[in-house]
Amino acid sequence: MSSSFVARRGFPAALTVLAAAVLFLVGLHPGSARAAEVTKGSVVITISSGKAGRVGAISPAKVVKRIGKKGAKVKSAAKGGTFGESVASGLQSAGGLKLRNGKRSLKITGLKLSIDKKLAVVRGNALGKKNIVIFTAAGKGTLGSDPSSVKFTNGKLKLQKSVANKIRKRLKLKKAPTAKLGTLYVSARSEPVVDQYYEQCGVEVDSQVDNSWPDAGALPTLSGGVAATASGGIDWGLKSSFRGYVYGTMVTAGKGDQALQALDGASRSSLPSPFDPTRGFNFPVGSGEYAANEGGITSDDQAIINGSGTGLICNNEHHFWVSISDPTVVIDGTDSRIVATISQNMNGGGIMGPVGPWQTPQRVDLADLDLTGVTPTYGTGTVTWSDIPVTLSSDAAPFATYAAGQSLDPITVSLETE
Ligand code: HEM
Repeated sequence: MSSSFVARRGFPAALTVLAAAVLFLVGLHPGSARAAEVTKGSVVITISSGKAGRVGAISPAKVVKRIGKKGAKVKSAAKGGTFGESVASGLQSAGGLKLRNGKRSLKITGLKLSIDKKLAVVRGNALGKKNIVIFTAAGKGTLGSDPSSVKFTNGKLKLQKSVANKIRKRLKLKKAPTAKLGTLYVSARSEPVVDQYYEQCGVEVDSQVDNSWPDAGALPTLSGGVAATASGGIDWGLKSSFRGYVYGTMVTAGKGDQALQALDGASRSSLPSPFDPTRGFNFPVGSGEYAANEGGITSDDQAIINGSGTGLICNNEHHFWVSISDPTVVIDGTDSRIVATISQNMNGGGIMGPVGPWQTPQRVDLADLDLTGVTPTYGTGTVTWSDIPVTLSSDAAPFATYAAGQSLDPITVSLETE
């Protein structure tokens, strides 16, 4: 993630003024944010004439049918491109073609198609040159009534004359293959990439990044540990000021209910009060472990408490959301932490700076717990660590734009041994 992206906030007063100006601009340019698209479909090049040598495919393109001794129907996946400028431009066809005559052969790769209403032009890398026009095909290009689908049919495929001459030389063909070689058929559609909370939050994806963070470290092995539960669950919600900001933005737009969503079995916390609209989440605990270790010493106690469910913090007014799922609280001296599956869509709509990516879910060491000033209290079969200071880990940062070491909401862990 770019540092300018992280630096987009930090001066709330200035931001408020900027936000007001920005809202004015947004009003003038509704829906200007760009969304990521994926192309699905195929390009079929059929060379039935044997005049350009024996036709083969370069993977992942495939020969789906052989025609006579030399001809072939070659199919490949369509990728990328821009739809709707004429019909389509920059549409890529995966893999490539191979032409062979005896021991001589040549490869055509990096195929890129521009499709017009009556003509398709296929560029590619061949004969030591990059992105040269290889084929043209007169045919019929159509843009679907849904503007993001493209078809090219009845394409009469020909080699570009200069390329045909060079192929003749290279393959030692008797004649340059300038006549019609076969057909070109393209069918593709462009679909928006949607994140896993599109339905819940509706933020558009600009780009997708997988493996954004280092994976969570292994959980400690507790020797002599006993099973533990936490009937009250885990109450936590990242950072109260962040929730307040998100709720404030959303409630002003009449979308207060969408701001802080408890999903997958989580619920809204009842702390600090069940009436506080900015309260965080409660993650039910399904399993856990506790080891008292040396008697009389409280600082060597260890615990693992596995919470479940998701807290989704959604600010589609500012085009972003942040999610925390299945938090595991680890009490283990200086390695005490919150491990969780996190994800975020940092689009931002380009309003405060560059548009950010959707970072797909990953299990990470999200936060560090500082137990130095916290002494557990014991009841009958219960152990409680109250108000443990929490900071964002360097592994997870930047998360929700916060930097490593940012103090987050403190957490109270209360468990029962069985
Ligand atoms: C990826 C997009 C964005 C993220 C992740 C994000 C995140 C944040 C965070 C973490 C804060 C500080 C909250 C706190 O701890 O007190 C904040 C504050 C703020 N953000 Fe954003 N923001 C984003 C986009 C935007 C956009 C597009 C706008 C304006 C249209 C905006 C306007 C503001 C304002 C005005 C504040 C100050 C709020 C206050 O102090 O009450 N943000 N943002």
